Amino acid sequence: MTATERVFSGVQPTGNLHLGNYLGAIVNFVKLQNVYNCIYCVVDLHAITVWQDPAELTRSIREVTAAFIASGIDPKKHIVFNQSQVAEHAELAWVFNCVARLGWLNRMTQFKEKAGKDRENASVGLYAYPSLMAADILVYRATHVPVGEDQKQHLELSRDIAQKFNNDFADSIKAHNLDPVFFPPPEPLITGPATRVMSLRDGTKKMSKSDPSDYSRINLNDDADAIAQKVRKAKTDPEPLPGEEKGLEHRPEADNLVGIYAALSGRTKADLLGEFGGGQFSNFKNSLVDLAVEKLGPIGMEMKKLAADPAYVDSVLIDGSNRARVIAAETMSSVKDIVGFIRKR
Ligand code: TYM
Repeated sequence: MTATERVFSGVQPTGNLHLGNYLGAIVNFVKLQNVYNCIYCVVDLHAITVWQDPAELTRSIREVTAAFIASGIDPKKHIVFNQSQVAEHAELAWVFNCVARLGWLNRMTQFKEKAGKDRENASVGLYAYPSLMAADILVYRATHVPVGEDQKQHLELSRDIAQKFNNDFADSIKAHNLDPVFFPPPEPLITGPATRVMSLRDGTKKMSKSDPSDYSRINLNDDADAIAQKVRKAKTDPEPLPGEEKGLEHRPEADNLVGIYAALSGRTKADLLGEFGGGQFSNFKNSLVDLAVEKLGPIGMEMKKLAADPAYVDSVLIDGSNRARVIAAETMSSVKDIVGFIRKR
């Protein structure tokens, strides 16, 4: 088995999907379909690292799947599935828990942020989360992983785990006539003008599902009125927009809105500032409302249609899981041989 180029990425089914998820990740998922074989996963095992209401979790898994499809991911040409239907993710994660070092996990900033001050009360799953993420990617021996900026550190850990596994088991990998780089180090693809979309209420904070204020984010299923209200209420500063990109430095809210506009329109920030520079925010915001409604409106509508047909959405996930499992099982069989476990042949 030799490693071929393959894309893997995942999105958690927790709360509403927002513009950050869309511009930082999903837009790139769609583009990469033309270049690679892609596997896109609704990572429900990750979601339960913090408490999820079961009925709400089920709804959220279907919603993320619907967002993938509505945004243009083709589940027939590529693989779309939910993580818990392929047991090999959890199986490989256990092996990786025994490869990763406590010191590595202790450095993860996302754990520190999510666990907050009450660390003693965080789940063990939340702490071990990056091992599972490495397993998600490496069980398919995926080579490219499109993500937003906030996942960079987790990707680096996945690379460290891949490398340590290859080194620790080098003799056994050789003895089984397998590729010495058994797990290829996955390459993060953090691209585009919106790799870190910020809150509409505070340009220094990431746009996030867990922000208590719904005005901090644009949700993919927001209607035109909600989008317009949120953009118009978005925090700005009293200065007019600058004529050049340099003028956005130290103006996080202005920089964020221009970045969002650039990502949605496919234009550069410099080009936009050439048009809107020197003008008031109200003008720019009106134009951004029109653009956001034009781009996100059809996605929201398609998501609503799909929400009315859960049987179809579930069938996509079952079909995707069946195809994902074939690849994952092959990797896991080799891993068992490499580690020295006995298995049925
Ligand atoms: P999650 O579910 O938090 O986010 C999904 C994707 O959206 C990106 N993202 C953002 N991008 C730009 N600006 C933002 N404000 C913003 N917020 C979120 C994230 O970077 C991500 O790409 N651990 C992952 C899920 C995961 C995964 C994986 C990803 C599990 N296994 C394997 C890649 C490969 C997560 O919690 O993403």
